[in-house]
Amino acid sequence: MTMKILVVGGGGREHAIASVLSRNSDVELYSVMSKKNPGIWSVSKRVLVENETNVKRIADFATSVGVQCAIIGPEAPLQAGIADELEARQIACVGPTRAAARLETDKGFCRDMMDRHGVAGCPKFRVFEDQNDAVSFISDYDGDLAIKPVGLTGGKGVRIMGEHVDRNGAIEYAKQLEGRVVVEERLVGEEFTLQAFVDGAHLIPMPLVQDHKRAFEGDQGPNTGGMGSYSMPDHSLPFVTRGDREKALRIMKDVVAVMAKTGQPYRGILYGQFMNTKNGPMVIEFNARFGDPEAMNVLSLLESDMAEIMIRITEGSLSSGSVKFSREATVCKYLVPEGYPDTPRPGRPLTFGDYGNALLFYGNVELNNSVLLTMSSRTLAFVGRAETLSEAESIAESAASSVGGDVSHRRDIGTEELLRKRIEHMKEIR
Ligand code: AMP
Ligand code: GLY
Repeated sequence: MTMKILVVGGGGREHAIASVLSRNSDVELYSVMSKKNPGIWSVSKRVLVENETNVKRIADFATSVGVQCAIIGPEAPLQAGIADELEARQIACVGPTRAAARLETDKGFCRDMMDRHGVAGCPKFRVFEDQNDAVSFISDYDGDLAIKPVGLTGGKGVRIMGEHVDRNGAIEYAKQLEGRVVVEERLVGEEFTLQAFVDGAHLIPMPLVQDHKRAFEGDQGPNTGGMGSYSMPDHSLPFVTRGDREKALRIMKDVVAVMAKTGQPYRGILYGQFMNTKNGPMVIEFNARFGDPEAMNVLSLLESDMAEIMIRITEGSLSSGSVKFSREATVCKYLVPEGYPDTPRPGRPLTFGDYGNALLFYGNVELNNSVLLTMSSRTLAFVGRAETLSEAESIAESAASSVGGDVSHRRDIGTEELLRKRIEHMKEIR
């Protein structure tokens, strides 16, 4: 029987979602995006080009084509209440309600919830309503802090003392911010991502992934949405112990239990970003969706049927038997326009060489008279999948190098050398 599924969003993450769904020949895909993504386009029966936060237009489209179930890629439509609107129209949604999405969209809510319910892994924090109070706290505090606006900033709104700014820079930054500000202790360690399928009560984890936020090789330059990521065949990471992983999983399960207990059950993808510190994993943040690029790593490994997982999420019948990932390594490398993220050059043509058996996911690109052009955000990604990390890296690297045009990528992502540095760093910290 045909199942009509809606995918909302138009980046690399959503191309990965659409492409894994399209493996099931009983699935008919519909999609909504603000700019035509050629990859999603090619597997969709119909596409609505629309602002992804125009919840009413999206729900009208979903109703008119008879969609049964939707999956929401980015956070902005969740904040705009897309799950609430679709569910009001009897369309099941993989993605939390506006209230439950506050785990991501309101960092103050997230920290207060963890604190009030005694969820482990919460750094020391303060939420300030008034910038002046934040400024005097930062001036008087003995030690490094992270300064964050409470709302969505596309991963680019955080300033870390000792990393991006000194104390004066942190104070100047806090003064500029509008609205509530979260100030929390600076965590030191190695970051990792744990994503999970959640049906309101049950949580099924996916393989761990490490993303690379900094724009340039050697973790230099400004923060970005993520330049690329890798995962290992054992679904863990070499600087994460079994105990660390269990703790991180327990934290995520506790959050899901608190959300259910407080009347805002969480359904969708839960993304936990952790800093592995000398005291074990601490929560940097939660996201209410797949990570971009991390979705491309895990979905390239998914062996189970994604449409069935979506149904189980919406019906509350997830079980570990329903989710299987292949035991291979993955490396994902994003190509970005020259100058990204501060002064990206859009509108530049791209040419493809032979990208071998890498998987290609389109991001922020435009197809103009059959010419692929860069836009201002991450352009496209290649994923290498293989038995070992080094094979996966060389597949992704040669694919990324085969693209011609004004784009660049981080050659160091997924290399043995970078991995060794991560392991050494973690050893020093412990
Ligand atoms: P976020 O927007 O919360 O994902 O933060 C972006 C990046 O800032 C994270 O990937 C971390 O590298 C860094 N970050 C956020 N909070 C902290 C913290 N409390 N201590 C150290 N680094 C942090
Ligand atoms: N890669 C980080 C994120 O999707 O938020």
